[in-house]
Amino acid sequence: MTGFALTAPNRTIFGRGCRVTAADEIARIGTRVLLVRGRSVAWVDELAAELTHSGCCLQVVYSAGEPDLDDVRNAVAFARGHRAECIVSVGGGATVDLGKAVAGLCVSEGDVAEYLELGNASPRQLDDPLPFIAIPTTAGTGAEATRNAVIGVPEREAKISLRDPRLLPNLAIVDPSLTDRSPKGLTLASGLDAITQLIESYLCNRANPVTDALCEANIRPAMAALHGLMVSEDARARDILSRASYLSGIALANSGLGIIHGLASVIGGKGAAHGAICGRLLASGLVENAEAMKRRSMDVSRFEKVDAWLADALGSLGASGASVLRRFIDFNGLPSLSDLGIADTEFDNIATLSADASSTKANPVMLKHSEICRILRLA
Ligand SMILES: [Fe+2]
Repeated sequence: MTGFALTAPNRTIFGRGCRVTAADEIARIGTRVLLVRGRSVAWVDELAAELTHSGCCLQVVYSAGEPDLDDVRNAVAFARGHRAECIVSVGGGATVDLGKAVAGLCVSEGDVAEYLELGNASPRQLDDPLPFIAIPTTAGTGAEATRNAVIGVPEREAKISLRDPRLLPNLAIVDPSLTDRSPKGLTLASGLDAITQLIESYLCNRANPVTDALCEANIRPAMAALHGLMVSEDARARDILSRASYLSGIALANSGLGIIHGLASVIGGKGAAHGAICGRLLASGLVENAEAMKRRSMDVSRFEKVDAWLADALGSLGASGASVLRRFIDFNGLPSLSDLGIADTEFDNIATLSADASSTKANPVMLKHSEICRILRLA
């Protein structure tokens, strides 16, 4: 039997309404708090007031989209100036990643770039991170359950991970009600990110019995919940998607991903939104991977299961799940690659770069350049 290791946030509080415990939980961890937040979630003002009331000394950093090196440098300097004892992120995946990076780097002396997986030399080791509390307000990246923060490196037009097991949050507070009434486009792209993470973790070459169990139990319900949310708001569907997102983070952190996230890391470096890229590449990634494996006489039974789950969740049991998924994303207006600013002429270069991406290394089959190009063309 193949062995495995398992990592997850030190502690998780999950449930509709559990945000009411946040201020007390945070105050128990540290009283000099750096709060990293997006601008759109009104509840953060309430949390800030409660933290102050609980005796915490608070400073706020606003996250403006997916963080790049300078965003991280500025926020780290701010956290050090505040003598922060803990970092709290409330927001989407980018906000959680910024807070996670600040927690990781606040005590370490080097520049953020020295700690990134930039390819050549091994990255420098972090000193012990500050305690980090993640409170996600979207259901998508699962960053509240992962050990990496994705940072944009503009001079390379790439997104690179700051990765360390100690970056796992000390506490994840996942309250699905924070995602209620999120805009349809954001719900679609984020939900497809979580679903892609579950699917790639399930199919990847490092899947283990625990990640299998998480993925098998959640792929179909998550797709069905997302399908329902494209029609009408539904608290139960929000709950299912938040759970799927959180568990997708645990799954990917303990197994791996695949070519879709490998391509997304390259395309995302050019500024396109992560969830939309994953959703746009999911159907063609599944089809091309399965075809490539059949050509090499490899077992594709997991692909057949995933395809059937997708078709069932989208109300077309017996049809091709990949085809139904394509119709679903087109009908609901997910941007195309060209809408995301990616021209056909860039496919060749994107395919070359994606072969070296860390996510690609867990893909269930080593794809040829022409096979990766075909995923992009079919998308
Ligand atoms: Fe993702």
